[in-house]
Amino acid sequence: MAEPIKVLVTGAAGQIAYSLIFNIAKGDVFGKDQPLILVLLDITPMMSVLSGVVMEIQDCAHPLVKEVISTDKEEEAFQSIDVAILVGSMPRREGMERKDLLKANVKIFKSQGAALDKFAKKSVKVLVVGNPANTNCLIALKSAPSIPKENFFCLTRLDHNRARAQLACRLDVPPNDVKNVIIWGNHSSTQYPDVHHATATIQGKEMSVIDAIKDDNWLKNDFIKIIQQRGAAVIQARKLSSAMSAAKAISDHMKDIWFGTPEGEWVSMGVISDGNTYGIPEGLIYSFPVKIKNKTWSIVNCLPINDFACEKMKTTADELVSERDTAIEFLTSA
Ligand code: NAI
Repeated sequence: MAEPIKVLVTGAAGQIAYSLIFNIAKGDVFGKDQPLILVLLDITPMMSVLSGVVMEIQDCAHPLVKEVISTDKEEEAFQSIDVAILVGSMPRREGMERKDLLKANVKIFKSQGAALDKFAKKSVKVLVVGNPANTNCLIALKSAPSIPKENFFCLTRLDHNRARAQLACRLDVPPNDVKNVIIWGNHSSTQYPDVHHATATIQGKEMSVIDAIKDDNWLKNDFIKIIQQRGAAVIQARKLSSAMSAAKAISDHMKDIWFGTPEGEWVSMGVISDGNTYGIPEGLIYSFPVKIKNKTWSIVNCLPINDFACEKMKTTADELVSERDTAIEFLTSA
């Protein structure tokens, strides 16, 4: 049997983690023959809840789980980890300004970035889920200078899966028969779900989604709004934010990092922009179409971009620039 890998989940007493830990523990993410040491971090007031989660993990009797470490101490949580899934963050409370939310999260992700720098393996793969995910990821990256910046990701796979599912529903095909949608930019309501390069397999024949749907108005208006507002719609209905689907998206994202993306397909991931790709400013964590091989990602480059798409990609980049500038202000003054 392989050596166990050490996988950290933060926000481990929360609702996303409750589904996510189950997926990881049963081998859906890192493989059915990969033993695991699960490390669970939450804040001190949640330790009692977390102890219940640990009991449940034991009660599942998953054969791959060799050890469970639960803690409220970053120095223990980040020690020699192979994977960090950073879910825990400060939630937006009623009446809270976006700036205040950013400020609280800069503090968390600065501290966790420093802990990654000091304690984690240099090969650690870091996926930031807690919102504002792109900017939190940027802060963690900046606070961990000894870890390659290519090891940092933010989650936009949930938006990607939502887009795929909506198109599949409209075309009455299974979601797996829709490929190569793209989520550009921020995991926020400015994100741009792009169908220009997406294909669908209909009655055995692969064709462009645009030709298959034949409704430009729906694709340019309703579809984009549905994806941009889907998180809010779930909150309105459930009074809680997406958790089962977020855990599935995290699992899909990490599985693709571990095992690679299928031939001929790409997925959406927030990764660092080098400033030379699609005109996106250097140093932003921006969601791009990405392929993965040997645990290394590359952006799918040189796709033709029309004026409509270009404008939408810029709008979401502008929002990220403004979030970054505010966060850096807090980071340097903290
Ligand atoms: P939740 O409130 O149920 O759980 C969050 C947990 O994080 C709580 O147990 C809390 O105590 C913990 N936490 C807070 N500060 C922490 C810290 N400094 N260290 C460790 N743990 C800490 O929230 P839920 O539903 O699990 O969502 C978590 C985050 O994921 C939220 O920010 C949410 O907005 C975000 N999210 C992101 C998505 C994406 O696609 N990027 C999708 C869905 C949610």
